[in-house]
Amino acid sequence: MKNIDSGNHTTGRSIYVDDIPLVAGTLFGAAFGSPVAHGHIEHLHLADAAAHPGVVRIFTYQDITGENQIGGIIPDEPLLAEHVVDFCGMPIAFVVATSEAAAHAAVRKIKVDITPLPVITDPREAHAQGELIVPPRTFRLGDPDAAWSQCAHIIEGRADSNGQEHLYIETQAAYAIPEENEGLKIYSSTQSPTASQRAASRVLGVPMHQLEVDVIRLGGGFGGKEDQANAWVALVALAAHILRKPVKYVLHRMEDMAMTGKRHPYSTDFRLGLDKDLKFVAFEADYYQNAGAAADLSPAIMERTLFHATSTYFVPNVRATAYSCRTHLPPNTAFRGFGGPQAKFVMESAINQAAEQLGVEAEVIQKKNLNKTGDEFPYGQKAVSEARACWTRAEELYNLETLKKEVASFNAQSPMVKKGLALMPICFGISFTNTSMNQARALVHVYYDGSVKVSTGAVEMGQGVNTKMLQVAARVLSISPDKVRLQTTSTNRIANTSPTAASAAADLNGKAVQLACEAIAGRLREVAALELNATVDAIELKNEQVLLHGKPTELDWKKLVTATFLRRVSLSEHAHYATPDVHFDKRTEKGHPFAYHVYGTSINTVTVDCLRGTYTVDAVRAVHDYGQSMNPAVDRGQIEGGIVQGIGWMTMEELLYDKTGRLRSNTLSTYKVPDLYSVPAEIAIEPLQTDTDNLAIFRSKAVGEPPLMYGIGTYFALRNAIKAFNPTSPVGFDAPMTPEKVLLALYPQPTPAVTEPHEPSLSRLATH
Ligand code: MTE
Ligand code: HPA
Ligand code: MOS
Repeated sequence: MKNIDSGNHTTGRSIYVDDIPLVAGTLFGAAFGSPVAHGHIEHLHLADAAAHPGVVRIFTYQDITGENQIGGIIPDEPLLAEHVVDFCGMPIAFVVATSEAAAHAAVRKIKVDITPLPVITDPREAHAQGELIVPPRTFRLGDPDAAWSQCAHIIEGRADSNGQEHLYIETQAAYAIPEENEGLKIYSSTQSPTASQRAASRVLGVPMHQLEVDVIRLGGGFGGKEDQANAWVALVALAAHILRKPVKYVLHRMEDMAMTGKRHPYSTDFRLGLDKDLKFVAFEADYYQNAGAAADLSPAIMERTLFHATSTYFVPNVRATAYSCRTHLPPNTAFRGFGGPQAKFVMESAINQAAEQLGVEAEVIQKKNLNKTGDEFPYGQKAVSEARACWTRAEELYNLETLKKEVASFNAQSPMVKKGLALMPICFGISFTNTSMNQARALVHVYYDGSVKVSTGAVEMGQGVNTKMLQVAARVLSISPDKVRLQTTSTNRIANTSPTAASAAADLNGKAVQLACEAIAGRLREVAALELNATVDAIELKNEQVLLHGKPTELDWKKLVTATFLRRVSLSEHAHYATPDVHFDKRTEKGHPFAYHVYGTSINTVTVDCLRGTYTVDAVRAVHDYGQSMNPAVDRGQIEGGIVQGIGWMTMEELLYDKTGRLRSNTLSTYKVPDLYSVPAEIAIEPLQTDTDNLAIFRSKAVGEPPLMYGIGTYFALRNAIKAFNPTSPVGFDAPMTPEKVLLALYPQPTPAVTEPHEPSLSRLATH
């Protein structure tokens, strides 16, 4: 079944916040963001802006009717700056005008006097100054201190990965419309309708039931709208609440890029110990997470980093410590993988460094150390592993030995163009690491004409969750998919939703839909039994027919639905699902946090032009653990998208903040994302055939985030190509591997032309 949105998407009929027909009298907002990263606000000059034609009102923190606070995990983030600004772009004022142009023009007339304070952009520097968002956390397994003496080889190093702009096609957007009795209906492009509702209720000082947040769909979220949609919801809600007028704000791309947080950059020290057979003995890591100026989701992301410290490998002795470091960047936030990919990059860097020092191929070390069923993760959960199955299937299916020979023989006869190959085995835990979030609800109505409407807490953001929800209902009720329609995600219909995140939306909400439909189907069968004078056991609903002892009867789906209504039996159900058996104890850092893990292995190949430093990604060939995919087309789209997004993060997307904390790569001309020419020429994806049982919806495993990590293989393939050209290249582990970094690695200079990643020269920017 194809994605139910594909027709509307390709014909431009899908509705996003900016497409919602305007209510008469709608006003338009625009935020004034801090021009500096850190300082004391001495004076805010609003008079010129207020006098601008069309301006209705300018809101500052003093207008807030409730609490000036939007911090989700920790209350450390004001909606509008009061006396201090903590990052460039931090909202200070919110202009509301009769047109979007007027609102933006007025924003440009606002001036602010700020006494600058010292700016920190580097997480290690923040750590050295004691600027931590939360106390550090450590995950332990075995006895790492004792284990080092048993190691034949000890490798120490450092790995740095940069941030990533989400670049959802639809920018952040919210539209609040007053309703009677002080209510507000708020359309939002949010992954978390409830978090947005809660943030607005706090800022306005009104109960949550006074506010409805309604989400039609998102033009992409990728984690960037898990918490960071809340500010815009709160701002339009505040203005609409005070003015009792509809207020809309759709951020311009440059506003969005400058004001919102991104994937967390990480800087990490690692130490890896191996025995003489190259089996891992011990692993230690200290992760310095660049959290930005407020907590946002950083503590949860830091936690997922720790959960993924050893990735898909078994290491008997582990000590992994993470520091969430407060800097003066916009608060960094969720991004596909949620700290997991950053940990993966560190582990693979350690393996590659070991391979280089020991003169073996990285894949020899990788393969030897893949986890097996029963192996313990550092957090106590035992693996149900498909790691080896995926790896060996990929080896066979794609003829790894032949691919390697092709690369070697190409490189032998090609002096200036080199190929590189790397394998990337992945493992990702499915469930919110915060156990309480693993719950969802669904509301299903069967109308008496036999058509069905489904509401869940899941937000459609391109990942196809609505298609999957529809499939669940159609399958459980055994009716045609075109009898089922999805409803928007509204806090009026489904309360207290978890965000659509952690790749878990289809599982959690799908199971709730399944429960609701099973309850309705059960009642329908009881009615059928009465109608047919039979026992319920003898009744089956199949393909819109009512079967008695397996044989068709005069009752069909529609007649049965009508009969059920006439007998005054409910045709609606609201169901609740909570993942069974997941738990985690933060005091011991042990438990069983994940419903299951997703595995896979990819083989990545690249070609590097060693004269220019440019490269092409030849292929990503993966064997992926889908479980039993309920929608192979949707899942393939997720894997392809994840791979390309991962490649972008690892190769070309280069976020540059200067020392003053200003984002320099703030437009699409200075921030390069993958385009048609940078996607792999070939993406091959083969499902792993396995019967392993799991907690996924109809055993169709979560697919949203894990494949992003296949993109990391491209980084190491590029490194291998560089080494093929210059075996003594001192290239370290510092993603992204931009063409200029490739060039510098191919021809290392005694005094490097480019030094600090956070200190771009203007000429360097101009080359992008
Ligand atoms: N795919 C598309 N097209 N757009 C998105 O915004 N977000 C990703 C992933 N795939 C995203 C996407 C992220 S970060 C997550 S957590 C999952 O989808 C969330 O959806 P799911 O739980 O239904 O997989
Ligand atoms: N993953 C994604 N989003 C989240 C999580 C998580 O584990 N916890 C809170 N938000
Ligand atoms: Mo995804 S980063 O969990 O929204």
